[in-house]
Amino acid sequence: MRLTRRSAIASALALSACGQGAKSQPAPAPIPPLKSLARFPIGCCVQERWLQEPDYADLLAEQFSQLTAEWEMKMEYILREDGGFQFDRPDSIALFAKARGMALHGHTLVWYAGEPEPFKKLDGKGAAFANAYRNYILAVVGRYKGQARSWDVVNEPITDDGERLRESLWSRNVGLDDHIIRALEHAREADPAAALFINDYHLELKPNKRATFMRLVERLLKRGAPLDGLGTQTHIDYDLPEGAVGAALKDLASFGLPIHLSELDISLGDRFVPALPGDRVKRQIAKYAEVAEAFMALPERQRFAFTVWGLRDSDTWLRGPSGQRPTDQPLLFDDAGQAKPTARVLADAFSRRA
Ligand code: G3I
Repeated sequence: MRLTRRSAIASALALSACGQGAKSQPAPAPIPPLKSLARFPIGCCVQERWLQEPDYADLLAEQFSQLTAEWEMKMEYILREDGGFQFDRPDSIALFAKARGMALHGHTLVWYAGEPEPFKKLDGKGAAFANAYRNYILAVVGRYKGQARSWDVVNEPITDDGERLRESLWSRNVGLDDHIIRALEHAREADPAAALFINDYHLELKPNKRATFMRLVERLLKRGAPLDGLGTQTHIDYDLPEGAVGAALKDLASFGLPIHLSELDISLGDRFVPALPGDRVKRQIAKYAEVAEAFMALPERQRFAFTVWGLRDSDTWLRGPSGQRPTDQPLLFDDAGQAKPTARVLADAFSRRA
């Protein structure tokens, strides 16, 4: 008998309660590898320093089939102040993926949030800027040619209010749409086999931002840009209205391109008190099941990958300075690397619709 979503959530909760509550109870059974239950890559973001921890590395490789560098394949790490490149940690992440038979998703080449000095010095210098822009992309994508199956070529091109394209060092010097088109073209030139994405957040929370993103996609495709897929980050809260993720995926899938659910975490919200979870954890578990089912409802050829933004709760960016939620528990594995009910409901969803 196949588990329904409701019974899957109930059993996940019950298992977790016996694991956490009664001391005499045995620890909850481990979950089967998530990557073995789905017909598409199950991804996780990583930082190179964690790959040196054997328990972390083993759990990551056991459960996931794709890696995204959380920050060490971005300009902020690769491009040094003196204009030189440092590839030690990105190489280490790529090597780990290769050694463990995992796919690698490159993240990210161009981002408004990263404006390193070597490019700032070229601000306003037309051809010099454009050449440096092309050379950076050729160098980075070229280095991982045949290793990275795909790239977030431009990250977060739409303003947070969802109304327009972001102005940035890149758009100012290469053009509003053109900096995206050029970046896609340079990436294609460097590795014709890599699938090229643009990636953004709050496409489920803000329908107006999704609409602006989709108008950009239309323009890029109309101009023949080598755009192969769309990334929807899906950094959401436990109380996101029901159906929002499904509506976003359905809209984005209307272009017929592969969809990367690229950075999933489901926050327990501001000021979460672990000892007083209220109904937040239960709703978060249900939300994980809902997101999995929404992704599974995509046509198989459009399910590019399902990626979570961190392995253990202790790894989440949300507990750090930019997330500002120090007690958050947004992921699939707890601080000790034990599978949580959030992982169980994903396992159930993937096995139900495998
Ligand atoms: O590890 C170093 C540490 O050694 C050093 O002392 C410290 C101070 O410089 O920096 C630490 O590295 C930081 C790294 O996170 C690890 O914590 C970087 O400065 C910091 O910039 C980096 O932040 C990342 C951020 O993107 C910017 O790259 C976050 O981890 C990462 O989760 C976040 O991810 C973004 C996606 O790329 C795009 N979507 C939103 C998502 C969350 O903001």
